[in-house]
Amino acid sequence: MLQKLEETYEQATAVLEQAGSNAELEAWYRAVLGRKGSVTLMTRQVGQLSKEDRPLFCRRVNEIKSVLDQAYQARLLKLSAAEMEGSLASEGLDVTLPGRRQRRGRLHPTTQTLREINRIWGDMGFQVYRSREVETDEYNFELLNIPAHHPARDLWDTFHTITPGVILRTHTSPGQIHAMREYYPEPIRVILPGMCYRYEQITARSEIQFTQVEGLALGKAITMADLKGTLVDFARRMFGADRQTRFRANYFPFTEPSAEMDVECILCAGDGCQVCRYSGWLEILGCGMVHPTVLRNGGYDPDIFSGFAFGMGPERIAMLKYSIDDIRAFWSNDLRFLEQF
Ligand code: PHE
Repeated sequence: MLQKLEETYEQATAVLEQAGSNAELEAWYRAVLGRKGSVTLMTRQVGQLSKEDRPLFCRRVNEIKSVLDQAYQARLLKLSAAEMEGSLASEGLDVTLPGRRQRRGRLHPTTQTLREINRIWGDMGFQVYRSREVETDEYNFELLNIPAHHPARDLWDTFHTITPGVILRTHTSPGQIHAMREYYPEPIRVILPGMCYRYEQITARSEIQFTQVEGLALGKAITMADLKGTLVDFARRMFGADRQTRFRANYFPFTEPSAEMDVECILCAGDGCQVCRYSGWLEILGCGMVHPTVLRNGGYDPDIFSGFAFGMGPERIAMLKYSIDDIRAFWSNDLRFLEQF
């Protein structure tokens, strides 16, 4: 039996040295050391031996198993290395070729404009205040002095949810109430950037989803002069120091008095062109002194506190800055548009 073991061993070694591929190597392993391999089967025959012969046989068979296993591993390494070398040589990899350049992403033009606006207001001491996009009718309208059935509601066509009284905010103004209720009785200087939604026809000039940046300054001696001075300063920083601005009286239920601010048309510098509809001016924001009712709803006593608020549209501003003539470009996801920024 020992004799047969030695023969099996010799034969296995000889075959192993012949193995020229990974597949042959696998087959060899199965035939010799696998569950039904020749050496494995020999270990099962120990029972047929006499008591005296057993220890010697067992020791030898274990020795042979580990020697064969090591030889197998060594052969495997050698073959893989040879295979790798072969493929490197035949495929002719040129490691000196320059790599493929990664295409770098960039920020969306709205985001770029938003960041520019945030930076300017940040320089002027305004903090960013985050406010929710899903609002209640109460915050979006009632607390802003727009009661149900008031005709002013026609200004904001609304997306309703299936939960009664819960809507998508039509402007960032409800954030004013949230900020006031959180900061009372401290003075406030915040901007509120974020997405707004309106149930409107999508045209070159209006979208159903757009961003706004609301602003709120509240304190004990804030006047219309502060409103004008601050907004004119903003326009200078945003559009250039010698850009003209003007205020026009307007109506908003949550401010009194209310106004809109125009900047001199960027394209024609005031001469009149198609973009400014031959007026020489472009409207960029709505603003006004916070209405006493709104102050009260926010918790502030209008006899002691006053403030100004404004709301601007970053897409509008981006359109002016880059002469974009169709607001739909912002959401159309067209790379030919996006790659220009
Ligand atoms: N919320 C107004 C709008 O969406 C803009 C605005 C904000 C006007 C704050 C005055 C004060 O049209």
